[in-house]
Amino acid sequence: MFKIAFYDTKSYDIPAFEKYGKERGIEFKFFESHLNSDTAHLSKGYDGVCAFVNDTIDKEVIDILYSYNIKLIALRCAGFNNIDTKAAFGKIHIYRVPAYSPYAVAEHAMALLQTINRRIHKAYIRTRDYNFSLNELVGVDLYDKTIGVVGTGKIGKVFINICKGYGMHVLAYDKYPDPNLDVEYVELDELFKRSDFISLHCPLTDENKHMINSESIKLMKKGVGIINTSRGGLIDGKALLEGIKNRQIGFACLDVYEEEGDLFYQDKSGHILDDDTLRSLIAMPNVIITSHQAFLTKEALQNIADTTTQNIIDYFSNKTTDNEICYHCANMENCKKKRNLKCF
Ligand code: NAI
Repeated sequence: MFKIAFYDTKSYDIPAFEKYGKERGIEFKFFESHLNSDTAHLSKGYDGVCAFVNDTIDKEVIDILYSYNIKLIALRCAGFNNIDTKAAFGKIHIYRVPAYSPYAVAEHAMALLQTINRRIHKAYIRTRDYNFSLNELVGVDLYDKTIGVVGTGKIGKVFINICKGYGMHVLAYDKYPDPNLDVEYVELDELFKRSDFISLHCPLTDENKHMINSESIKLMKKGVGIINTSRGGLIDGKALLEGIKNRQIGFACLDVYEEEGDLFYQDKSGHILDDDTLRSLIAMPNVIITSHQAFLTKEALQNIADTTTQNIIDYFSNKTTDNEICYHCANMENCKKKRNLKCF
């Protein structure tokens, strides 16, 4: 039996992980705390660690885990911007779940877009109060509108198909365009200039942090709608708020927020929110925020538990897998394709 310390546990995580763990000989100890330098000691005596999007896996945490002889971090998510892969290289192997349901995330992005466009969130509250007025509920047809999709990987591709189903024109930007994808690739500035709506589906890297900022917002059409189900750090929150205040941005749908780490996934309803930017965004009538829930479908939870437990077994049985990430394949083009060994 391999023993894994499981951080940032939510009740919906447990059933699938217990099921696959039992089947594959893995015993999980479920901790509610985030993984950070204060809680890393909980993993002492375990064979590996299972972590999630808002765990802080910096050099300090990696050194603590390594001192406890932890050789494996199994991320149960796709993004790995919260991990110092350089610090981990040569010490701890890192695995991720590259895809668990691109449909879950892409469908959520469209759900957000249509909710804000057709004011469903407002209509729902009104009719519950027997207010059947339609004032201020006017939306637009998505048909014939232009949507810019940044990142045409697994999720971006599903989202593009959904948009095509609505009869929308799709522009796309990707650092590594897919030559087989039937879409009009353009440079990022052109995408910003021509799109009625912009949806982000690329990973967060040092290079594209705050790609939506005061300068790029100036390039956009007046009244543009922005949808971010990718990573909060892609958007400069203060610039977004300013763009909304000066009416340059028509609406924003955010499933992620740069400073979400200490807030999202938790009930803070009895607290005063210290983050002025987030508070102002939430107060805007043309902003919808969900709490990093785009992935949250039954299918995705099953797939996450299945792949994560398989990654753990692959590591302990010395098998190689493309799900391992490291400093090199996170930074060097095509690294994964060149190697057929473990990262180190
Ligand atoms: P993927 O790896 O299949 O696709 C990412 C695409 O972005 C690739 O085509 C890549 O070439 C492109 N890309 C890389 N750097 C770029 C840059 N600087 N500018 C433009 N494009 C760039 O990843 P997938 O599965 O489609 O996921 C995309 C992102 O969605 C993840 O990185 C993650 O941050 C986010 N995500 C959010 C979830 C949520 O619950 N809100 C759940 C799962 C993923």
